[in-house]
Amino acid sequence: MKTENRGNFASKIGVLLATVGTAVGLGNVWRFPYVVGENGGGAFLLVYVLALLLLGIPGVIAEFIVGRHSQANAVDSFKKLAPKTKWHWIGYSGVLAGFLIMGYYAVVVGWTLEYLMQACMGSLSGLTTEQYGQMFDQFASHPYLPLIWMVIVMFVSHFVVSKGVSGGIEKASNILMPIFFLILLVMMVNSFFLPAASEGLTFLFKPDLSKLTPVSVLTAMGQTFFSLSLGMGCLITYSSYFKKDVKLPKIAAQVVSIDAMVAVISAVVIFPAVFSFGMQPEQGPSLVFKVLPNVFQQMPVGILWAILFYALLFIAALTSLISLHEVVTAYLYENTSMSRKKSSFLVAALVCVLGVFASLSFGKLSSLTIFGKTIFDALDFFTASILLPVGGFFISIFVGWFLDKRIVATELRIKHPKAHLFIKGYIYMMRFFVPACIFAVFLFTVFG
Ligand code: PFF
Repeated sequence: MKTENRGNFASKIGVLLATVGTAVGLGNVWRFPYVVGENGGGAFLLVYVLALLLLGIPGVIAEFIVGRHSQANAVDSFKKLAPKTKWHWIGYSGVLAGFLIMGYYAVVVGWTLEYLMQACMGSLSGLTTEQYGQMFDQFASHPYLPLIWMVIVMFVSHFVVSKGVSGGIEKASNILMPIFFLILLVMMVNSFFLPAASEGLTFLFKPDLSKLTPVSVLTAMGQTFFSLSLGMGCLITYSSYFKKDVKLPKIAAQVVSIDAMVAVISAVVIFPAVFSFGMQPEQGPSLVFKVLPNVFQQMPVGILWAILFYALLFIAALTSLISLHEVVTAYLYENTSMSRKKSSFLVAALVCVLGVFASLSFGKLSSLTIFGKTIFDALDFFTASILLPVGGFFISIFVGWFLDKRIVATELRIKHPKAHLFIKGYIYMMRFFVPACIFAVFLFTVFG
């Protein structure tokens, strides 16, 4: 195991931006708005916030404790904290999940680049909703165009990851995330001035409890996991680069609140626009590629809004892709004789191979299915619905039952006269509440 020169995030703001970079991704800007749309708006939002507080913050803290204390990648962290046991299999499952998620995530990041380019060239205008739908279907099913974008995307990710922790990931996050927040803010302000702003905002914020089903509760919990990059050792890997003076509960609370804010603001950007131009919000995953181009073209200076939106989506997705790339690279680099650059390149190359199958499942390979799902959907289901919850379940059991309580206390370092009560409460949550919730989500998504 190579342990020398692992690198650190150099500054506290770098820690925050990089961690927010992994959390904020397609899950916030692409998935969250349509999940809210499908689950009846405001009521869902309420449950989502509860899930973030009760599952998200404890879950993030758990991975931080494991990563920062062990100062090792997703697999070796468990080997260090629980030598001669099987706990490190959680890490293997995480590395596998990281690789498989990249296989389809990189394809979607490629789509965002295509749309960004189309927007810049002014080609996202003059079509009807049906035509935008066809345009997307034609592009996604094209035999090689999406593949070219995917390879470009993996190259960019490799460029960043190969430069290391502070020289690559931290630097990229420090540049990209402020741009992301600026664009998000500008788009949010614009959405307040749209004709149907109040209708969109009412849909989003007014809780209609009659629409809240057990299914929406479980969906909210699943969304929490994916959106916070939980359950696959991504936050273990990132926190292994945190210095000892980083306050873990504080960073966890900040990351979770920023992640939630970005999801809500993305919905604030999308709903007023969708309502203002006579569309419906329950459009499913194709909302941002099939519906939004038609919405943008009806806005004043629509081209500008389209460019900004797809740039926003691209940045969010790229920083998450980089974090996935880092999970697998760190494991390879620290367990083989390969350099970081070679490890990162190998990961990128293998992802491109997997991505070919994921991308072609919209075209030539659409009839190839695994348990009735296309390769793309199967990768998504197997990771988001199986590997992440299973990983999260065992990480919480590990921290709640197995890990020495003194390690938990040392890493949390809460300075408060009642600190021992917080720690006790936290451990009880990790022992019973968090695993029980994850188990319920798992049963529902797999057998429901
Ligand atoms: N959190 C990312 C999103 O919301 O899009 C997805 C993700 C990134 C999941 C990194 C897991 C991960 F390790």
